[in-house]
Amino acid sequence: MLTLSEVRTIAGSLAIRGTSRLLAEAGDLVCALESPRHLANPYPLYERIRAKGPVYSGLSRVYAITSHALCSAALRDPGLGVRTRAGQMIGESTNALADTFVSMDEPDHARLRKVAAPAFRPKLIRQMRASVEATTHRLLDRLGDEFDMMTDFAAPLPISVISDLLGIPAGDRGRFARYGQIVGRAFDGLSSRGHLREYVAAVADLRELFSRLMAERRTDPGEDAISMLVTAETDEKITADELIATCRLLLIAGFETTVNMIGNATVLFAEDRDQWQLLRSRPDLAPGAVEEVLRYESPLPMLNRYPHEPYEIDGHPIPVDRPIIVITAAANRDAKVFPDPHRFDITRPEAVQHLAFGGGPHFCLGAPLSRLEGDVALRALAERLPELRLAGEAVRRKSTIIRGFLSVPVMK
Ligand code: HEM
Repeated sequence: MLTLSEVRTIAGSLAIRGTSRLLAEAGDLVCALESPRHLANPYPLYERIRAKGPVYSGLSRVYAITSHALCSAALRDPGLGVRTRAGQMIGESTNALADTFVSMDEPDHARLRKVAAPAFRPKLIRQMRASVEATTHRLLDRLGDEFDMMTDFAAPLPISVISDLLGIPAGDRGRFARYGQIVGRAFDGLSSRGHLREYVAAVADLRELFSRLMAERRTDPGEDAISMLVTAETDEKITADELIATCRLLLIAGFETTVNMIGNATVLFAEDRDQWQLLRSRPDLAPGAVEEVLRYESPLPMLNRYPHEPYEIDGHPIPVDRPIIVITAAANRDAKVFPDPHRFDITRPEAVQHLAFGGGPHFCLGAPLSRLEGDVALRALAERLPELRLAGEAVRRKSTIIRGFLSVPVMK
């Protein structure tokens, strides 16, 4: 038997999708983004939304912004929260990060971010380069002539890097990876009882795993992020529940995005052989290629914000608490900042101005780590797998929250 709250969660997930479909059929362009046709290529629809003016408002009474200037300003504006003033947010019931600081406004957000930030100090991230390289080459060594980029390389790399960061013992890494994948997939929506059950169980199992590791690190601390967090707990800056949630945030935020950055890069280079040849001949272009992949196909294409006080965008008043969809993936194709924006070009000097890592107080804490992972991965792929190409059709995820692929069959 499902509990009442489980029934509500699944009903909520289905109801949001059902309502969205109806609104899309009635002409709402933001809701139309969820239709399978636009999921494959949302960029023409972004352009239609952009053409409606600086601020789009459809039947759903949700606002959407697409320009780089407005998206960047909205993310940095202290008057906009990630929740309404009453603490609500769209899709909370199936958001595995709803109780973590990425989904909190001030003052809790700043308090918890400050506790996690030391684990991402630039010096520490630089020191991780050798182990990221070792993991990358170990994974590449194991590959056959044909393989699935997502399951055989793009997923195990970030999972292994986050396991190192958090200090997950070797014996727990398999189930840590499995739980992370189940919880992350919930962003695509929960569509069945079995899926919901699996999700609820994985969240509970992760909690159990993190609780055990925290207890161990309290008595025997190491150099890892969990040890840093339990030290903050002793200083009463973070409660035990907040600590567990923060570990889940680092796992999901660090995994779900980086895996898709690598998958998206694989498909982009498979489709544009000139850019692949360029990277092959000049692996030193890898850091710029990472920025261009993030600009061109952002793993998190839109972020939600809610005005906590009357807000005006380009002369348009936005009521308090009304959702604003900040379409960063559209901002990343804004011709005012990125000339010829629909061209994939790894030598583009302005690519780094993309908003794929967000902006303002919630700017991605893991950006330096994912840049490192992307640099190492692309360099290694270009050097060791020069003939890398698709071996079948890549299967796209059915999600507007995460842009990426479930499977990318490739051959060396
Ligand atoms: C390509 C890889 C990545 C992308 C595209 C990405 C993107 C983002 C974006 C857009 C946000 C802002 C969310 C918002 O404003 O609502 C964010 C926040 C965050 N990311 Fe990442 N991320 C990536 C990798 C990582 C990694 C590797 C980690 C850590 C292991 C990480 C940890 C976080 C955390 C902790 C936050 C919350 C920051 C806050 O709310 O203050 N991310 N990320």
